[in-house]
Amino acid sequence: MCGIIGYIGEREIVPVLIGGLKRLEYRGYDSAGICVINNGLNVVKKKGKIFELENQPELKEIKGKIGIAHTRWATHGEPNKTNAHPHLDCNKEIAIVHNGIVENYHSLKKLLENEGHKIISNTDSEIIAHLIEKFYSKDLEEAVIKTLKLIKGTFGLAIIHKNENKIIVAKRGSPLIIGIGEGEMFVASDVSAILDYTKKVIYLRDNEIAEITKDNYSIKNLEREKVDGKIHEIQWTINQIEKGNFEHFMLKEIFEQPEAIENILRGRLKKGKIKLSLNLDVGQINKIIIVACGTSWHSGLIGKYLIEEITQIPVEVDYASEFRYRNPIVNENDLVIAISQSGETADTLAALKEAKSKNAKTIGIVNVVGSTITQDVDCGIYLHAGPEIGVASTKAFTSQVMTLLLFALYIKQEKGFEIEKKMLEELENLPGKIREILEKSEEIKKIAENFKESSNFLYLGRGLNFPVALEGALKLKEISYIHAEGYPAAEMKHGPIALIDKNMPVVFLATKNNYSNKILSNMQEVKARGGRIVAVVNEKTSEIDKLADYVIEVPETLNYLSPIINVIALQLIAYYIANFKEIDVDKPRNLAKSVTVE
Ligand code: G6P
Repeated sequence: MCGIIGYIGEREIVPVLIGGLKRLEYRGYDSAGICVINNGLNVVKKKGKIFELENQPELKEIKGKIGIAHTRWATHGEPNKTNAHPHLDCNKEIAIVHNGIVENYHSLKKLLENEGHKIISNTDSEIIAHLIEKFYSKDLEEAVIKTLKLIKGTFGLAIIHKNENKIIVAKRGSPLIIGIGEGEMFVASDVSAILDYTKKVIYLRDNEIAEITKDNYSIKNLEREKVDGKIHEIQWTINQIEKGNFEHFMLKEIFEQPEAIENILRGRLKKGKIKLSLNLDVGQINKIIIVACGTSWHSGLIGKYLIEEITQIPVEVDYASEFRYRNPIVNENDLVIAISQSGETADTLAALKEAKSKNAKTIGIVNVVGSTITQDVDCGIYLHAGPEIGVASTKAFTSQVMTLLLFALYIKQEKGFEIEKKMLEELENLPGKIREILEKSEEIKKIAENFKESSNFLYLGRGLNFPVALEGALKLKEISYIHAEGYPAAEMKHGPIALIDKNMPVVFLATKNNYSNKILSNMQEVKARGGRIVAVVNEKTSEIDKLADYVIEVPETLNYLSPIINVIALQLIAYYIANFKEIDVDKPRNLAKSVTVE
């Protein structure tokens, strides 16, 4: 949610900043701006996507060695040029870019206005520039610290002053990294912005501030005491953050799922044993609570089925946004698992905080290395799915489900039980089976074309495939703007059945499991009311042929693994429908990849 890049060094600065913004565009794309120091502050801002900023003629004139830039996802104040970052102080000497929310901005704004400051935007962020101005007397770092002590809320911040050869950055609850180069330094809200230039990064921790010059950096806490920053070597490659031959990141990421699953298994499945570096006494776990948002919440629901069946430990799954406020019953014998692709989702972070305040043990299942959640948990499992840039999550979802299955099997193993040979074999076979379904993408595309005019969709599944139905519906909503709902198939008769007519497509997850026959009865009920049926099955039978208008055959696997295979068919349906509707699939309206505000 919003992206920051900053640069200090000898390169031509505008291409570095604009290039970085393009890499960050998936985090927010309603307006953007840059500011470079050169005889004062040179600012260019524009409503819309980065290419619109890039086309501004004034940009060509801008030269300099120090600059910051921002791409926005609006929270306070509509997307327009005035509300776009960077924001300046009254004297146009200080520029800031900010991710996060200043919760007490109303009172701070009033205070500043009473002192004569002219606040011109409707954002909460602008007041940060004015507060720094208020406290500034030739020491930018000191003025920033005084400002940060006043601010309630979250920030990832980069700040420059027209007379100072440095960038100041700070973090609380919103990511900020320093990229270390040779005679140059970068700052960014996420590594993809700077991967073209350096792989050496430091992840700031909450309430840290850093002063960055061309050759150096120094990190301090808000008491101005020096703290160490650990340098990490980024494993992601440039190819991973480029679309390559794919039309969209989302499609590329759907097709990366076989490798993503292989990556999870690599090093964790050895000679029939699951190896996870978790500092956990599994015998002590009384109850597991999974907290997450969006797609990650859906993988958590699948996790509940898997963990309960495999380990017999009770599992609750909570929306992180609900858990954080409902005074949940949690204690030191409970394990709270936070699932998050980005590792930055504000509600999930707050839920973790709540769990920790009640002394629960915490685990993170996260994709982005070094992200805030990974810094906050007792231990964790990385997905290692590579960067996910398409706003609609795909490979992170299947990686999360795979990780939850491994986690369940690990508990079983640690409790002294053998993992069945059949399961171990099928884990090895899974990437190949995913490739088989991906080979059907053209077939699925043809089916999708029939639904580009639809305005509603119903997705039905049972057991482990009920959350898959929810995820299929979410994917469609997010990128095609078609209203879609997921339901347990048996619940259809308690309400949704009233919606069924010839205009209502219903997607059934009807692969082989204990409920297959019951799902066939549900199909009959839909057919009898004229609904259009898409069936995801393992095998075309004459019965399915009679009932379904469209059939997608997917490879058969163990029930525990079926969500991973089945959801890929639904990801492809959603992708192609949205593509037929000519929607920018990677940047669907109103959404952001990583939601770092409440
Ligand atoms: C946003 C994204 C979703 C994602 C959710 C949770 O809403 O658009 O795709 O599932 O956040 O994100 P997380 O990074 O915590 O998994």
